[in-house]
Amino acid sequence: MGPSQEDSSVVAESITIIDNRTGNQLEIPIDRGGVAASEWSKLLPGIWFYDPGFVSTAACESTITYLDGDEGILRYRGYPIEDLAENSTYLEVAYLLLRGELPTVEEFDAWHHEITMHTFIHENVRKRFLEGFHYDAHPMGMLVSAVAALSTFYLDAKEIFDPASRHKQITRLIAKMPTLAAAAHRFSVGMPFVYPDNSLDFCSNFLSMMWKVAEPRFDANPVLTRALDILFILHADHEQNCSTTAMRVVGSSHSDPYSACAAACAALYGPRHGGANEAVIRMLTEIGSIENVPAFVDSVKQGTGGRLQGFGHRVYKSYDPRAKIIKRTADQVFEITGKNPLLDIALKLEEIALSDEYFTSRRLYPNVDFYSGLIYQAMGFPLEMFPVLFAIPRTAGWLAHWQEMLDQDSKIARPRQLYAGAEERPYVPIGSR
Ligand code: CMC
Repeated sequence: MGPSQEDSSVVAESITIIDNRTGNQLEIPIDRGGVAASEWSKLLPGIWFYDPGFVSTAACESTITYLDGDEGILRYRGYPIEDLAENSTYLEVAYLLLRGELPTVEEFDAWHHEITMHTFIHENVRKRFLEGFHYDAHPMGMLVSAVAALSTFYLDAKEIFDPASRHKQITRLIAKMPTLAAAAHRFSVGMPFVYPDNSLDFCSNFLSMMWKVAEPRFDANPVLTRALDILFILHADHEQNCSTTAMRVVGSSHSDPYSACAAACAALYGPRHGGANEAVIRMLTEIGSIENVPAFVDSVKQGTGGRLQGFGHRVYKSYDPRAKIIKRTADQVFEITGKNPLLDIALKLEEIALSDEYFTSRRLYPNVDFYSGLIYQAMGFPLEMFPVLFAIPRTAGWLAHWQEMLDQDSKIARPRQLYAGAEERPYVPIGSR
């Protein structure tokens, strides 16, 4: 085989761009499925990618979470989500996300001890801050504000490049989220605050702070505690989702982690993101019975019934692997709590949608939120707590990304725009308009 024949069989891992105005061209290597925009700018300075919603943009390199939306694969630091949900705990997963490796027994014991020692919140956070909210405040709004307020209690949080300070803020945030979350709930239902019980593990302690009344010690049902732990593992990270992007963007200005985390919480609040499981329950309640499901699906297809909540995902174009695990967990929870009456409507909705051309052609499948709300509701959590329950474990993911972003010495996030407004025009005095 001659050299020219040999060359033609080699597929270059690159793209070539040509500026048709000048005829100049540039070859850019394709690296791990991406091309560097900095290379593009060498040939085309001042020509921007127009990509609203970052649909085709990789904003960073990351070693934390791998996601293949076509194949339905999710891995934290290389470990399949199915393996972690089966065998691990949320606290161990948080360690894995933050440190990159699973802990040894000694490392885990030290981590567990450290988290447990930071579960308490300053009395002023509760008494003066949280109790200052209006009686019917949404607990997620309270959480967003309380997380931001923590930055005013820990002035060392600004030392983001001091490893000891950074570690301390990470520990505080992971440890205090359940305490803040439960405090927000207790306030919204007029119940007295329950202090953390540091003899309990992470999830049991959270359930104790949520539900304890007058008993000396609250012992949650172990099946429900484990179900919550699994849900926390599944929600701990999901690479560059809206709230994690908010964390990285705000953190890129070198603000303290509490402020960045509050921004991430705020991003999670919306119904397109962490508010979706709340929206699922509202939708199922509105549908009301199995007989109404076909008409509801028709209204979604015609665009009059809104979206099918808990369906579709920017990245997953097949069944969300987390939804599969949650469906199994739901069965275990319902054995203890009794079946959630909305389950049959959800199952019928899924059955119809998965065989309907509208949904299959758009590759819309159940996502993590389709069944998680049913579990939370069966466990007694009010709807308003659903996004809060998402924020507790996602804090580990947010912090892992924040830390990675700082270690990468990344630039401040500052995208460009394509200006589409008015041309220059003179100011007209108000009386002459
Ligand atoms: N029900 C009905 N149609 C849908 C849905 C849905 N849930 N999701 C997408 N579509 C349609 C959409 O109308 C569009 O159709 P067409 O091409 O005819 O205009 C097509 O599918 C593509 O939709 P898109 O809005 O371009 O997709 P996106 O990637 O921008 O949005 C999403 C992703 C998750 C925001 C969206 O699927 C959605 O709103 N789902 C419902 C809310 C939800 O369940 N969110 C939780 C996401 S998973 C947890 C998390 O990440 O927080």
